[in-house]
Amino acid sequence: MKFFVDTANLEQIKEAHNLGILDGVTTNPSLMAKEGIKGQEAVIEHYKKICDIVDGDVSAEVISTDFEGIVKEGEALAALHPNIVVKVPMIKEGIKAIKHFSNKGIRTNCTLVFSAGQAILAAKAGATYLSPFIGRVDDISWDGVDLIDQIVHIYATYGFKTEVLAASIRNPLHIIKCAEVGADVVTAPLSAITALLKHPLTDIGLAKFLADAKKFA
Ligand code: E4P
Repeated sequence: MKFFVDTANLEQIKEAHNLGILDGVTTNPSLMAKEGIKGQEAVIEHYKKICDIVDGDVSAEVISTDFEGIVKEGEALAALHPNIVVKVPMIKEGIKAIKHFSNKGIRTNCTLVFSAGQAILAAKAGATYLSPFIGRVDDISWDGVDLIDQIVHIYATYGFKTEVLAASIRNPLHIIKCAEVGADVVTAPLSAITALLKHPLTDIGLAKFLADAKKFA
């Protein structure tokens, strides 16, 4: 399973990269706005900085919602760096654009996915990645991990090449549950990734080993 970090914060991206287990980064307009990035030039520069840190896929989201606009924006983003993956919303114009990008060899991440039906359409259009938002599904009292399970099963049944990228991860258990049902990728906040490190028995065991080591130091 690939690990992406879900942030536009350069310090957090560096920290995740330094762990040695990072395969990529996902961003979205909300995450970019959180970093105080303003203006198209600043956005472009920020994506370049992320690509300089991480040798892996970096999702950059379009903000147009019409076919021509998505294509123009997506082609410009893809030209920035070979690792850029164009993030396209799950709307009718987005599906058309994903098909267009797929024909041109431009990689895509279909975002804002909340159903198996949407997942089938994105795979048919040739999306490289599919981002079901499991935390937001949980927020409305449905089961986000069940959605991942359903999509993984459908894709395996038909041999779709689209990778299931579990997004909107809120905690370490989401990561573990997504691994259990066979998500290809998880994109998570750094806090959820580092929370995987934690276990009280590890801390207790290490404290005992270090105390005993002093006896023969
Ligand atoms: C990633 O691709 C998504 O944009 C992100 O995971 C959404 O997460 P949120 O529901 O916590 O905003």
